[in-house]
Amino acid sequence: MYSERIRLASLRDRIVDAAAAAALIEDGMTVGISGFGCAGDAKAVPFALAERAQREPVRISLVTGASIGNGLDKLLAESGALARRMPFQADAALRKAINAGQVMFVDQHLSETVEQMRSHQLKRPDIAVIEAVAITEEGHIVPTASVGNSASLALFADQVIVEISLRYGTDLEGLHDIYIPADRPGRAPIPLVSPDQRIGATAIPVDPARIAAIVISDYRDSPSTVQPADAETQAIADHLIGFFASEVEAGRLPRNLGPLQVGVGSIANAVMAGLIDAPFENLCMYSEVLQDSTFELFDAGKLDFASGSAIVLSAARGAQVFGDFGRYKERLVLRPQEISNHPEVSRRLGIIGINTALEFDLYGNVNSTHVGGTRMMNGIGGSGDFARSAHTSIFVTKSIAKDGAISSVVPMVGHVDHTEHDVDILVTEQGLADLRGLAPRERARAIIDNCVHPEYRAALEDYFARACERGGQTPHLLGEALSWHLNLEERGHMLATR
Ligand code: COA
Repeated sequence: MYSERIRLASLRDRIVDAAAAAALIEDGMTVGISGFGCAGDAKAVPFALAERAQREPVRISLVTGASIGNGLDKLLAESGALARRMPFQADAALRKAINAGQVMFVDQHLSETVEQMRSHQLKRPDIAVIEAVAITEEGHIVPTASVGNSASLALFADQVIVEISLRYGTDLEGLHDIYIPADRPGRAPIPLVSPDQRIGATAIPVDPARIAAIVISDYRDSPSTVQPADAETQAIADHLIGFFASEVEAGRLPRNLGPLQVGVGSIANAVMAGLIDAPFENLCMYSEVLQDSTFELFDAGKLDFASGSAIVLSAARGAQVFGDFGRYKERLVLRPQEISNHPEVSRRLGIIGINTALEFDLYGNVNSTHVGGTRMMNGIGGSGDFARSAHTSIFVTKSIAKDGAISSVVPMVGHVDHTEHDVDILVTEQGLADLRGLAPRERARAIIDNCVHPEYRAALEDYFARACERGGQTPHLLGEALSWHLNLEERGHMLATR
């Protein structure tokens, strides 16, 4: 049985049920599980672990690629199984536990987690649980819809549990490109000079002796919940496309724009979808998550190739893409996230990085993670990996949130993820601020003129004028700089006058 899925025959007697596999996980262990943005997460064993945690105390440190689906973070958090969590999450219940101080969340650049394990700065996993479409003749693991951190988690773990997913066809084999950087010092450059290049193996080369258990799983990935474009996200896309057109005309970008990296979420997806009707051809992506818009661009004949670490799709798109995978496979590659997000590679390729901010300030510092300066939203994800090393680093956001009670353009951000030095272009539905080559006072002028919502413009203008009277390279009124956030907390609106 399962001879096509477990091709190394000697491993077939390691098939157990999920509860038996989860029993290998002991209290206090570090557990790595596959999964990135709700794609390719191990499911059967984490479900069984959450169930067990309701009966007996098991608290683990959980390491993934990024967020996981199927409500698993919620179940694990609510069952008390999570002591620590890294490097990213996007679940409301886990967010609540993190912000209550019940789960210690380590918010990391996504390219760094396994690099830090490699150099023993982070504890390596006791057990890794990896979703796979198949195990090869050599005992190597073929992942499903994401690579994420799966390869290094499996290679570093003492024991590996493989979840064979019957939900994905074996035609996914050949999609992945598993390249593992050598130890430092003395590491050679990553030999990737073009987004469509393959530099590694198609499966994770684990020693089959370390595969402790195999579980057959019939769980599906959770579909993505991206919202269709609205008037504001369409306007953001239009501003960006205008900017790209002028860059091409000025000779600063090639006609196909160069490799595009686009962050997660509805705004980023809408921006990419906006390229369908734009006058650019032969696009390519060197990104982290490939969303619905990637496949809309393929279907429109606009996109030649997409390199990512995970494929995260809505239910309808997922059924279409994975039901007819041969149509796309040759134009796709999934890499470990330390390669998809590697600063060495993005600087070499010259990517255009488009990521989403929660808020940004007068001088272009960006907060992508902390609501009100203190409460974790999701995490920095890959945005920092790309922002510093991109050819052009772009952040987008709607100019207001929560029906206008919040301005996403503020005097000073309550938390900084991306400093002004890493931010070239800011875009809201109001317009685009090109900050390249500008000093702080000039940046403030461009941001006020182009990005802030009209309801907040006079207040920001007034703050800036009074700050300039006080002087400084980056003028601020320190007693007042976070007053908009305080107003929101105390009165429910950022403006004192409301
Ligand atoms: N203050 C408080 N809340 C804000 C806000 C602000 N300044 N700006 C937006 N929000 C709220 C929105 O109202 C919305 O709330 P809701 O979920 O209750 O409706 C929520 O934040 C999400 O905003 P939305 O406008 O729908 O954007 P999104 O889905 O594109 O997500 C981020 C935006 C910033 C949360 C998301 O992109 C993220 O987590 N980024 C960090 C990681 C990253 O960039 N990864 C990609 C790297 S490859």
